[in-house]
Amino acid sequence: MTEHTTKSVTVIGLGPMGQATVKVLLDAGYDVTAWNRTRPKLDTIAELGATPADTVAEAIAANDVVLLSLIHYDAMYGVLEQGPADLTGKTIINLSSDSPEKSRKGAEWVTSRGGEFVTGAYMTQSDDLKHASSRLYVSGPETSYEAHRALLETLVPSVEYLGADYGLAQLYYQAGLAQFHAFLTSLEQAVAIIDAAGADVDKFIEFASNGTESNRDFTLFFGAAAKQGGWGDIANLRMMHAGAQHVIDAAEEVGVDASLTRTIQDYYQRALDASEKAGHPVPVYQIIRQTA
Ligand SMILES: NC(=O)c1ccc[n+]([C@@H]2O[C@H](COP(=O)([O-])OP(=O)(O)OC[C@H]3O[C@@H](n4cnc5c(N)ncnc54)[C@H](OP(=O)(O)O)[C@@H]3O)[C@@H](O)[C@H]2O)c1
Repeated sequence: MTEHTTKSVTVIGLGPMGQATVKVLLDAGYDVTAWNRTRPKLDTIAELGATPADTVAEAIAANDVVLLSLIHYDAMYGVLEQGPADLTGKTIINLSSDSPEKSRKGAEWVTSRGGEFVTGAYMTQSDDLKHASSRLYVSGPETSYEAHRALLETLVPSVEYLGADYGLAQLYYQAGLAQFHAFLTSLEQAVAIIDAAGADVDKFIEFASNGTESNRDFTLFFGAAAKQGGWGDIANLRMMHAGAQHVIDAAEEVGVDASLTRTIQDYYQRALDASEKAGHPVPVYQIIRQTA
């Protein structure tokens, strides 16, 4: 596979991520043809210098490389079916989020029509693709990745090629999203406790945003522990269960919903129950991993 050096691509799907993708490409000197299901976003992007396509067929015909940024993989079928049945010579790079299995099926669908397929997953600071911590997970045939590496590296500061299995990009992305969802919701709960108590939210945010080094250390420690079956003896599990109760009390004393912490406390309870049954400590990781 030769390196694709033409600085001309098609972008289909113009939500916040699709629009951010088009802007980065235009800034990097690419000719961009774009299509979106509904027109207004297409007009916005056309004002920035992209070429609007009236139909999917026109958008796909314009370039050999087509980036998709849609709400999910199911949307891909309805969109691509509006284009040519034969995708020979085309590379579809799907940057939409979905499960690993959905991306494998999507890859099969595109390759059975003669096209090449690459899975991409934006692990970014929202739609700020050029943020220093923004990265793109990529999987699919290494030759396809190498052929389009320059394009992919234009999008974000860091591109991680994860392997030939089309599902890998989404696997790593969804694991990261699992962590991020919990982080966001727990942050909202924490701020709600401070705010509902009439305390200083800015002061709390100052404390909370100072935890980068500690987060890194916990991540390394818990990652290593997980590979050994997880962290926690019975005393740790009891302490964490009691600690969860203190958070629940602190939240409910000021009328804040504590169901997130109740779910967490339930993991410690299940670990304690399993430990009692097994006669040895069963860490929470084993409850989640279902190896207990
Ligand atoms: N936003 C983020 O911070 C972020 C970060 C990383 C990854 N992602 C992922 O990137 C992808 C795009 O996200 P987004 O934030 O730009 O917006 P989004 O709301 O997830 O997707 C919007 C795009 O999908 C199109 N769409 C929705 N249903 C469709 C259908 N049935 N047929 C055709 N097109 C359809 C929309 O078209 P219309 O404009 O016509 O509705 C629009 O172009 C998603 O998979 C998202 O999970 C997002």
